[in-house]
Amino acid sequence: MIAIATASQKGGVGKATLCINLAHALAKRGWNVLLADTDAQNGVGLSLARSTRKRRGFYDWISGREQDSSKLIIPTKLPGLSLLVAGQYDESAAAGWLSREVPERLNSLLLQAEDQGFDVVLFDSAAGMTGMTESIVKACDWVLIPQQAEPLAVRSIPHLLETLGRFRRDGSKVQIAGILLSMVMEDSAISRRVVSELRAALPAPLLWPLSIPRSLRLLEASAHGVPVAMMGKTPPAEAELFAQLAAHLEERIGLRQTTNAPSPHANLVD
Ligand SMILES: Nc1ncnc2c1ncn2[C@@H]1O[C@H](COP(=O)(O)OP(=O)(O)OP(=O)(O)O)[C@@H](O)[C@H]1O
Ligand SMILES: [Mg+2]
Repeated sequence: MIAIATASQKGGVGKATLCINLAHALAKRGWNVLLADTDAQNGVGLSLARSTRKRRGFYDWISGREQDSSKLIIPTKLPGLSLLVAGQYDESAAAGWLSREVPERLNSLLLQAEDQGFDVVLFDSAAGMTGMTESIVKACDWVLIPQQAEPLAVRSIPHLLETLGRFRRDGSKVQIAGILLSMVMEDSAISRRVVSELRAALPAPLLWPLSIPRSLRLLEASAHGVPVAMMGKTPPAEAELFAQLAAHLEERIGLRQTTNAPSPHANLVD
């Protein structure tokens, strides 16, 4: 099983949108995916299931209120995609458990997820690289970094890479799955300039060749609380983009079919 964090210094770069659509695309490709919302704002949970505000979830696990993670995991209508909502975040308790218990609780969550047959756990997290997001990134195998294609946001990349280097020196095994440009505006000269500057400055495996455009469809999909692939009878072009992003991620992190995941060729013979 592979654990992937998403992280960004800046807020509002499209992490939740990426997580929802990437998790959906990975599940469509045959993987058993757990999408975990760890943002106390409950962005993923609130957009995918209306009843999630009162549901227990990630923070109930972290605080030790629940010992059996299977009781917190919600199956979705798409086989292969399950959800762990943020749950009840307790600000007064947070100071007490942030430093000591979180790494242990995160590791045991990942062990239980593996026992439950998940191939991938994808964490959506709050912006910034401190607090809970720091613990999550450190506990994961990979981190995926959505990055808005605008001049100010781009200045945060060196700092982010430095921070990840420090996590590894502290003993984390986390590797960078890549930087993925989001909300790219093809019709904006500034956006195009930022993209080409970044492509010149960052090596190809670090900066993904595909990027996510700013798109009304993605905005509408999140307003409706669905992955973009579920918008309308014919999925829009953005759905194909996330399928390609999922394929790129598989390649990049070496996600391979195991006995748990159905073979893509099974239906050729039965
Ligand atoms: N590619 C896109 N095109 C258009 N709108 C987008 C796109 N990606 C995200 N959005 C919209 O931008 C807003 C912020 O996106 P999202 O919640 O995914 O970002 P975030 O990084 O999770 O934010 P936060 O840091 O606040 O948690 C949402 O309204 C979302 O629908
Ligand atoms: Mg978010």
